[in-house]
Amino acid sequence: MCGIIGAISYRNIVGILLDGLRRLQYRGYDSSGLAVMDLTGELIRLRRLGGVQNLINAVENTVLSGSIGIAHTRWATHGKPAEINAHPHISFDISIVHNGIIENYQSIYRQLKVWGYTCLSETDTEVVAHLVHWEGQKGGSLLEVVQRVLPCLRGTYGMVILDSRMPDRLIAARSGSPLVIGCGIDENFIGSDPIALLPMTRRLIYLEEGDVAQITSSSIMIFDRSGNSVHRCEITSNIQHDAGNKGAYNHYMQKEIYEQPRVIKKRLKGHLRNNKINFPELGSENEILLKNLQHIQIVACGTSYNAGMVAKYWFESFIQVPCDVDIASEFRYRQPVVRHNSFLITLSQSGETADTLAALRLSKKMSYLGSLAICNVPSSSLVRESDLVLMTQAGSEIGVASTKSFTTQLTVLLMLLAKISYLKGMKPEIEKSIVDALKVLPYRINQMLLQNELMVDLAKDFIHKENVLFLGRGAQYPIAMEGALKLKEISYIHAEAYAAGELKHGPLALIDNNMPVIVIAPDNKLLEKIKSNIEEVRARGGLLYVFTNAQFGCSNIERMRIISLPYVEDITTPISYIVPLQLLSYHIALLKGNNVDQPRNLAKSVTVE
Ligand code: G6P
Repeated sequence: MCGIIGAISYRNIVGILLDGLRRLQYRGYDSSGLAVMDLTGELIRLRRLGGVQNLINAVENTVLSGSIGIAHTRWATHGKPAEINAHPHISFDISIVHNGIIENYQSIYRQLKVWGYTCLSETDTEVVAHLVHWEGQKGGSLLEVVQRVLPCLRGTYGMVILDSRMPDRLIAARSGSPLVIGCGIDENFIGSDPIALLPMTRRLIYLEEGDVAQITSSSIMIFDRSGNSVHRCEITSNIQHDAGNKGAYNHYMQKEIYEQPRVIKKRLKGHLRNNKINFPELGSENEILLKNLQHIQIVACGTSYNAGMVAKYWFESFIQVPCDVDIASEFRYRQPVVRHNSFLITLSQSGETADTLAALRLSKKMSYLGSLAICNVPSSSLVRESDLVLMTQAGSEIGVASTKSFTTQLTVLLMLLAKISYLKGMKPEIEKSIVDALKVLPYRINQMLLQNELMVDLAKDFIHKENVLFLGRGAQYPIAMEGALKLKEISYIHAEAYAAGELKHGPLALIDNNMPVIVIAPDNKLLEKIKSNIEEVRARGGLLYVFTNAQFGCSNIERMRIISLPYVEDITTPISYIVPLQLLSYHIALLKGNNVDQPRNLAKSVTVE
């Protein structure tokens, strides 16, 4: 996790580093820091606890200026969020910023102690700075020294190293954590994500696993793991990044919730024709893969996992294709058995989630028919490494709690469902009903957004609650999971989701007159079943909030509030019903005075295991 930017130029790069860090904050915002060679040739390091703005304020109080530097925004893994643990870490002339985890840092530290080094921080990174310094005393260029050190490290890294005795170069190394070089004219840059580099250049070179690069203002040399000089292609990026603008909204999360009808409409545009789904981006030669699949294995984390769970209900009930969904961190270590003609689908907003990427890489050694990434970031590792790709095209999502990524993932999954149904020669009505529902989906979501004032009012009931239970059945069970996740993430209220039928197998014991229970109960074939679950809660004095478009014969009765929602088509109900739950969490977090866009302890993109 964490974000890195480095720059070497003929001009002052301090503003470039700070702007880069601001753009990278979605990767972590516990603390940040930079190290810059100033105009007198002195290395100046500044670090601050908290968001990047604190570092910007600190820099504003100085006259710092320099043409080579490295910077970092941190999400703590080893060592609490504290200035002492913030990067860059320094050992004499060596400064380093690092993403990833050095797993053998303790044994390295023991050796360093014998050699007389003292670690000032609690991080796994500082040992690398000392090790480079120690190795440097044996001679060789910084590049050679780093190449000698890397085999001693176990774990993952994307790192950039500056030696203040050689202020004309930066050395970058990648293993398990992405790095991209930005090519300029008489200046070059390095970052953990292209969005940090886009204001300076669109000419990008992605480092590959095991690569080490030496970057000066006028040259870029790249070496593979074996030390051979290699050529990596330069690409011209067309990524649009609108992170800077919240528009008329108070928070990114609010903006992203309200963008949902528009981005879904945009995603569908040109793809629904004559009651059919067109997916030209899949390529007709790949259709055979989808036609032949007999099992789907979905792998994802967090909100993306919840989208996968919805898809499982869809794939199995509409086209009878068995589907398993795994949390990526479980999949990669549980030695999964590959079913006959199984196809792997990864879901990820960022395309950089370490566990999801690792699962994809693992799957390549297994007998899957192929892999498809459903992703929001075109330049991501997941997109570059998957056989097939469907972009969600949701636009930049900045709020840590995913909203529009979830609904666009579901939209793409429904389109895929229709496509597979067609390819497998199933009844045309299936495809038609999906196309019909998708056509009106943006309108349906707009109707859900009109419930905002209702959610503002409802939020007041929750601000003093410590626990909330979410219940759903069928494809609404994952919506209960996603509703609970949203609430946890930004309001810090403990929330759990249960398949409503499981209530009597444990959670019923939690029900008392202080326990709010949110029930997702759209008017569908499971309505009567869920009504029975509602009665089970009522009989025990629970406090019910029923989200429904069904008639309950009453609006509100004692201890049961009916949240009447507009009609939606059965198949798209999960996509529409998450919207009021997103709004509810948003308003509860606001009332509690929480940082909605950057909730404590979390990061938008989890690039460490
Ligand atoms: C983090 C984010 C979540 C996200 C999850 C998976 O935990 O805070 O919002 O759902 O990672 O991320 P991905 O980018 O793979 O969808």
